[in-house]
Amino acid sequence: MAAKQNARTLLCALLFVGELLLAGSLSSQGMRGTIRKESFGKTASGAQIDLYTLSNKKGMEVAITDFGATVVALKVPDRAGKAADVVLGFDTLEGYENGTAYFGATVGRYGNRIGGGQFAIDGNTYTLPKNNGNNTLHGGVVGFNKRVWKAQEIASKDGESVEMSYLSADGEEGFPGDLSVKVVFTLPADRNELKINYTATTDKDTVLNLTNHSYFNLAGEGNGDILDHLLTLHAKKLTQVDKTLIPTGELRDVADTPMDFTSATAIGKRINENYEQLVFGKGYDHNWVIASGGGKGLTLTLAAEAYDPKSGRKLDVLTTEPGVQFYSGNFLDGSAKGKGNKAYGQRAAFCLETQHFPDSPNHPNFPSTLLKPNSVFHSRTAFRFSVK
Ligand code: BGC
Repeated sequence: MAAKQNARTLLCALLFVGELLLAGSLSSQGMRGTIRKESFGKTASGAQIDLYTLSNKKGMEVAITDFGATVVALKVPDRAGKAADVVLGFDTLEGYENGTAYFGATVGRYGNRIGGGQFAIDGNTYTLPKNNGNNTLHGGVVGFNKRVWKAQEIASKDGESVEMSYLSADGEEGFPGDLSVKVVFTLPADRNELKINYTATTDKDTVLNLTNHSYFNLAGEGNGDILDHLLTLHAKKLTQVDKTLIPTGELRDVADTPMDFTSATAIGKRINENYEQLVFGKGYDHNWVIASGGGKGLTLTLAAEAYDPKSGRKLDVLTTEPGVQFYSGNFLDGSAKGKGNKAYGQRAAFCLETQHFPDSPNHPNFPSTLLKPNSVFHSRTAFRFSVK
């Protein structure tokens, strides 16, 4: 009798352990997302380009191509659980090769403008191609957004990751030093967030300002303008600009101006006011100085929050960078046909480009963008999605 009882207890215990093991293996399987690689076509000069689609079990999917280390699509659910692609872009590689708006791209070697297309390091003057009036914008004529990067799926402890690397040769677009850049895009398994980690090294003193140029419309790309989106910028100052959008050097208080987004405000509420900075930008196209000064070391700080009341989608932007360029899509004019042949008109999206300040190499009072040999550049940004 006792023996029978013992056997039954043993059997129950074995079943229980078996169940635990099964649950464990299922949940670790459930934890993992997936990564899919497919061809995105060939460039005009014949380079093979791929598209990597990362997805998790929380309903988020992000597609990234090695052409320009570009975010091509980013799907997240709305408050009813319905997913939509919230970034502007193109269906084909050709769109990215010919495009001029930097949709989703990794921007470098120097994001935003360098005044007069020149700067000096230790008395040596470097002259860059001017591709924006008298200034250099987003790294010059052929910036990092038009380069073919080397892609690699890499192991990640919290989700799926793809690493993009690029070697920018000494003298490319006028910048000094062989610069080796790595950008790791990660989609965590347990939350709807795109993490972007940048590292770089150089063999000569150089300047560097890397950012991601995704254009967001939280209602879904091609779904009207973003003027009703509510925006919060955790910044009390911005870098005042001249009429060519080059910083004057002054960090101007935003209080009592249409540039004040310290509490959630509709993007369209004051965008057409006759305020000189808005006139210069044809809307918002300025660098806000993140109040905390940026994350300390590799710690992220909350820089911006955007919310679409209709869909309920909310985007939090966290970064280690000291600035964020809020650009309200003023120069979009419907001429470039985007995904599904949709025309993206003025203010069809907004950008929140985490960065060092524009034209820093010519402003010793701004946080430095100088990178020296033997040191490693690190920068992190996260686009975190939720619903409200
Ligand atoms: C700049 C804008 C520019 C846009 C697209 C933004 O980062 O600040 O002036 O039009 O990028 O190039």
